[in-house]
Parts: sequence; structure tokens; C-alpha cells
Amino acid sequence: MTEESARKHLSTPEITIINEVAKILSKGMNFLDSVGEVLKILYSFWDVKYSYIALYRKDLKLLKIVKAFGLKEDEVERGLFKRGEGIVGKVYKSGVPVVLSDLSVGAYINRTGLKDRLEGSESFIAVPVRVGGEIIGVLAVFKSFDKKDSVEKAVELLIILGTMIGMLYKLEERINLERQEWEEEKKALTQALGKKYSLEGIIGRSIAIKNLIDLIEKVSQTDTTVLLTGESGTGKSLVAKAIHFLSSRKEKPFITINCSAIPETLLEAELFGYEKGAFTGAYTSKKGKFEIANGGTVFLDEIGDMPLSLQPKILRVLQDREIEKLGSERSIKVDVRIISATNKDLWDLVQKGSFREDLYYRLSVVPIHIPPLRERKEDIPVLIDHFLNLFNQRYNKNVRIDIKALEIMMEYPWPGNIRELENTIERLVILKDGIIREKDLPSYFFVELHKEEPKHLPSIIELTEREEIIKALEKTGYVKSRAAKLLGYTLRQLDYRIQKYRIELKKF
Ligand SMILES: Nc1ncnc2c1ncn2[C@@H]1O[C@H](COP(=O)(O)OP(=O)(O)O)[C@@H](O)[C@H]1O
Ligand SMILES: [Mg+2]
Repeated sequence: MTEESARKHLSTPEITIINEVAKILSKGMNFLDSVGEVLKILYSFWDVKYSYIALYRKDLKLLKIVKAFGLKEDEVERGLFKRGEGIVGKVYKSGVPVVLSDLSVGAYINRTGLKDRLEGSESFIAVPVRVGGEIIGVLAVFKSFDKKDSVEKAVELLIILGTMIGMLYKLEERINLERQEWEEEKKALTQALGKKYSLEGIIGRSIAIKNLIDLIEKVSQTDTTVLLTGESGTGKSLVAKAIHFLSSRKEKPFITINCSAIPETLLEAELFGYEKGAFTGAYTSKKGKFEIANGGTVFLDEIGDMPLSLQPKILRVLQDREIEKLGSERSIKVDVRIISATNKDLWDLVQKGSFREDLYYRLSVVPIHIPPLRERKEDIPVLIDHFLNLFNQRYNKNVRIDIKALEIMMEYPWPGNIRELENTIERLVILKDGIIREKDLPSYFFVELHKEEPKHLPSIIELTEREEIIKALEKTGYVKSRAAKLLGYTLRQLDYRIQKYRIELKKF
């Protein structure tokens, strides 16, 4: 029945009841409390002094009263009906509402025993409670009708209520299911997380990260020169900073020089500074990065791109802690700790002659390699968790991830390493509300998975065609015009296929 036709048929109290029940639907209380409210509404607005809801319990194979109004405890307890038994059992079985105006007839089995307390004027009405097409129970009321009251209208109202109660049931089922799913996901996530290591913003749970953190703590207590190696985005810059800020130099400058970003001609002046008049345009003297960093740490990023011409000067800093400004004969003592980083194979550069061997040894007193993310997948869940928290806070959101999406992220090879993961999570947090699912992940995540498959396999038709052409060529002694005639092709058509199938033309 549509809402409009309900309005036409039903008079004011019925509409009020439907409105009140609809309010309960929107409150999202638990099912039994909601149903209790519905029965109270029937009492308040419709003078129903006794009512109950029985639901079919598959485990008991019985309909059981789960909520009642006006019934005593023992009456509720007695309220058990087999399918098809009594009015309640029959309504459940058939789905057809029943009105019984005389409770003294045999059809009324009085299972609850309530009849003995009734005035005798009440009718008994039972209607099915439906969820979608399925009947899950029965709503039963005892109501006295005046002559002017229409029993037909009453049944109409109760049928609507039966459906609304079904909706309440469905709602609770869904909420429970979601809650359960979420609990399971949380459990799986926590298991996946395991013990987490962190230091100065470095997060992980892999042995690699644990060892890295141990090593950082050790080297930060010394002034040793450290060489960080690893692919782009693995955290080399982050580790360099951590070493500095854990060391006794933390109050002094941390200066980064990106050797690949500065043109060779400017790099020397940038690193070592210059005296007034050192070159055209040097109107004043200027301090270099090594001098500015005095007492602190110099981080030489992308050291593999350091021009050969400057390498002896870097070597000098490492050996003697001395620099010479451009245009000056005088050496200046500097107290700096040097950390360098590269995503190239420095030893390979030494072999090729573009990196000095002596400098290589000086830089790599303590070499620290950071493995790519795909070799320490167990860090992915903790990193995702870390970045979700970070970006949820930054963008004032509450985005989470489900277990399936997490699994896919763990399988993805992350060529851009943690930087790529960080950017991916940031984008998802900005774009998404609620839970990140499989369908929200970028499509290239899935393309990666299939890259092992061969690009093009020749079809059966193509293979047979190729065979036929070869046979025809052999038969005709590799005279193409005759082979073409045999096959029913023009010469050009045959040439095209010979090329397409890469058929070798044997010459005699
Ligand atoms: N283990 C880690 N835990 C948390 N954040 C990390 C970790 N490793 C890298 N990051 C973050 O990933 C990004 C890229 O790291 P970065 O140090 O710039 O890499 P690299 O210098 O090797 O290219 C940075 O935002 C950094 O903070
Ligand atoms: Mg870097």
C-alpha cells in the first residue's frame, strides 16, 4: 500500500501512529527496544492494552514472543507456537492476516493464558511481520472495537506496522553485520600490525626497520661519516635528519646539498663559498654551505652526481676538515659531520671512472642500505595506518581502509616506495569519505598484477593460416606468385601475410 492510499483510507489516529513509528525507525535504537516502543504507541494512541511480537526462531523451530505489552512474565513465557499452530502459527505460515472477534471459538488456543484476564469484548488481530518477501514473525494485538470503528482499517494499519517492524529488524541486522565486519577488520589489522618500531618519524615493523633504527641510534652517538643507499623514496633524507637530530649536533645547522640539482659551475661556490673578487660579479665574499653548517651536519644528497672536478675538494673536507674558499689561498677549519646519500650504485660508478675510489671509501665508513618497500611488505600496514592518521588529522577527516584494499596495497610493488605510498594515502583521504575499498584504488594497482602475462598469443586461426602458407610455398618451390594462386590470394595479400607471420623465404 502506498503512503497516499494509506492516507486516504486511514483516519487521524492511524496516521499519527504511523508517524510515531516512523520516528522510531529513524532513531536507530536496537530492535527489541524499538519494538517495545511500537507496542507502547499502540497503547497510547489506539488503546491497545495487550499486544506482542513473536519471531520465528530457526534454532527452536518455534515462534517465540520477543516483546509484549500488558502481558505478565509467565504469559510471555508460555507464548511459543509451532509453525501453523494456533492463529499466530497460521498467520506465520500463510502470511494472511487473521481477525478473530470471538475468542471463545476453538481457533483461539489461548497459549499465553491471557484470555482469562480479558473483558471479553476484545478482538484478536494477527498480521505477518515481513522483511522483504520473507515472513519473520507475527504482530498480535487485542483491541476492543466500537461499532463505528472499522476493523478493515485496523488490519490495514497493522499490516503497515508489520512491514515497518520488519524494516527495524533489517536495520538492526545490517548494523550488526557492519559492526561485526568492522570488528573483524580491526582485529585483522591489529594482527597485521604486530609490534611497531618508530624513531624520529621512522615507522616500520620489519626486521630491516628494526635494524635500521638500532643502527641510527648507534651512529648518532658518534661523528662517523655515513653513506645512505636505497631507491628513491625509501627514506634516505628522513634517516639523515634523524641521525642529526639524535646527535649532540642537534642544536646546530643541518644543511642539505642536492648535488644533482645545482649546476656544476655554481656547486663549488655553493659548497665552499668565495672571496670578494674571486670571479667577475663577486662583489662581496660569501660563506659556503660547509662553513654555514659549522658545528652541525652536512647532508650531501645524490652524491653520485658530484662532478669529478669537485671530488678532490670533498675528499679534503673528509680527510682534514678543511675548506678553501674560491679565490682564497687560506684554509678554514670546519667542524662538520657528513652524511651522504645516493640511489645509484656508487661502486659501479667507481668502476666506470666517474667516482673516485678514495672518496668512495671515505664516504662509506658506515654504509646504511634502506631496502625498497616491496622487500619489506610487513611495513605497509603500519605505514598506511601512520599516514591515515596523519592525513585524517590534517584534513579533519576519518577515512579508514578495509582489509581487501589493504591486501591489494600489500601486493603492489611500490616503485616510488614510501613517498608513493604517502602520496597515495593523502589523495585517498582527500577524495574519500568513510572506508577505502578495492574499487577506490588507482587502476594501475591492478595492471601491475598482470604484467607477467604475455602481450599477444597468436590465435589458432593465425597458426593454421601460417602453416598453410608455408606448405603452399614449399609445394611451389618458394615461387610466391604460384603459391599465391594456390592459396587464392593476390601477390600483395600473400606478401602481407609473409611479413605478418615472419615466414622465412628459403632460397635455392
Ligand atoms: N620508515 C618511514 N616511516 C615513515 N615515513 C617514512 C619512512 N620512510 C620514508 N618516509 C617518508 O616518505 C617520504 C620519502 O622519504 P625520503 O626520506 O624523502 O626518501 P628518499 O630521500 O630516500 O628519496 C618522506 O615524506 C618521508 O618522511
Ligand atoms: Mg631524498
